[in-house]
Amino acid sequence: MKVQITSEEQMPVAALDVQEGRKFFIKNYGCQMNVYDAERMEDMLAPYGFEKIADAKEADLVILNTCHIREKADEKVFSDIGRVTKGNKRNPLIAIGGCMGQAMGRTIMQRSPKVNIVFGPQTYHRLPEFIARSGLAAGKRKRVLDTDFPALEKFDSLAPQGLRGPSAYVTIQEGCDKFCTYCVVPFTRGVELSRTVESILTEIRALAEKGAKEVCLLGQNVNAYHGLGSDGKECNLARLLQQVATIDGIERIRFTTSHPSEMDNELIELFGKERKLMPYLHLPVQAGSDKILVDMNRTHTADEYLQIIDLLRMARPDVAISGDFIVGFPGETDEDFEMTMDLVREVGYSSAYSFMYSPRPNTPAAENTNQVPLEVKKERLQRLQDLLTEQQKAYNNSFVGKTIPVLLEEAGRKENQLRGRSPHNIAVNVEGNQRLLGQQIHVNITKATASSLFGEVKLD
Ligand code: 5AD
Ligand code: SF4
Repeated sequence: MKVQITSEEQMPVAALDVQEGRKFFIKNYGCQMNVYDAERMEDMLAPYGFEKIADAKEADLVILNTCHIREKADEKVFSDIGRVTKGNKRNPLIAIGGCMGQAMGRTIMQRSPKVNIVFGPQTYHRLPEFIARSGLAAGKRKRVLDTDFPALEKFDSLAPQGLRGPSAYVTIQEGCDKFCTYCVVPFTRGVELSRTVESILTEIRALAEKGAKEVCLLGQNVNAYHGLGSDGKECNLARLLQQVATIDGIERIRFTTSHPSEMDNELIELFGKERKLMPYLHLPVQAGSDKILVDMNRTHTADEYLQIIDLLRMARPDVAISGDFIVGFPGETDEDFEMTMDLVREVGYSSAYSFMYSPRPNTPAAENTNQVPLEVKKERLQRLQDLLTEQQKAYNNSFVGKTIPVLLEEAGRKENQLRGRSPHNIAVNVEGNQRLLGQQIHVNITKATASSLFGEVKLD
């Protein structure tokens, strides 16, 4: 099929009119960076009269903010394109954003004639313009594909960030130059770029003024942050965190995701020094065998990773460690896999994410002829997940009987239940009045499961 798509050259920049009562639905896939991007899209659309709704059937605009990291994520989007618009009598405009939009824009347009707009993580600030270029009125729409890479321009063009709760995400760095041999991120989010210190601090100050108490700084390689400071010199993550810590109102700081090769001593030591920096670190290792780590192009050994964990625990003995693992990477033998299991036993994770290796287009590992059979991958994943769940349960159980500070973020599923997070990043459910939302309170922990804690408000 021939795809008719408008491009910048063919069309002048169009402006979207303002009209109250427009409704949009957004579905998010993938990582926290997509959550941040989706929130910023909501902020961009609000001035044009778009209100976010939870029911896709009532929407004038449906956005799927996609992920490209594993094959499953792609397939889910294609099946969702039909599903989310079923029963919608408004003939909604369908926009595909995110990393899959970036990597597969033309394929999406070809496979799904219903899709009107495709954009990527670096162009979503121009969503109102894309909507205007496409046209909201059914019958007269043009198809728009825009997946440029205009670097950091996006952050200067975004509408001010609205506050959605006491904890806010702030993207400080995007992209990746590490080129792990399994990963599509360098192709979807582009090369590594850091925002300036001032632009980040301005965003966080504004969030704090609106009532944010916690910020989580985001980046694919967040600890490779090297943004320009107001003194004209490069600033690293440790120094940025210290500046964030001086902002009044911000009580808790987190950051994710980190690469072991970028964990410098200054950052490690900060865990022991900065009271506002929460004792939790997501530090993916992916595998425990040095041979596999070399083939993955991870640039560190298993021992080097373990040394970092030791140093972190020396700086802050109670730091909770989380990680990511890939099982069944091409060439992974039973012995290699056992080394991953040994590493997990040695570290003792508080939580972790684990995946079967999924071959991705244009990545070197996908070309490797030594692929591991699906059955073997499944079996290894099961064993690894059993071990990780056991560790997570034991970790969470260690808080039963203790009193911990919890920042209450949202209403829970049951009446009078509130949900928040502990300093070590565990979800905590508390019985309590809604008026406590947004506050940091002390909770007596009475029960633990593998995924969360339960407790009662401690009365002073
Ligand atoms: N297959 C499986 N898992 C992957 N990840 C990244 N690329 C792949 C892939 N091709 C995992 C890594 C990474 C996390 C975000 O997703 O563990 O840390
Ligand atoms: Fe998925 Fe990676 Fe894109 Fe996040 S950055 S949405 S994990 S492909």
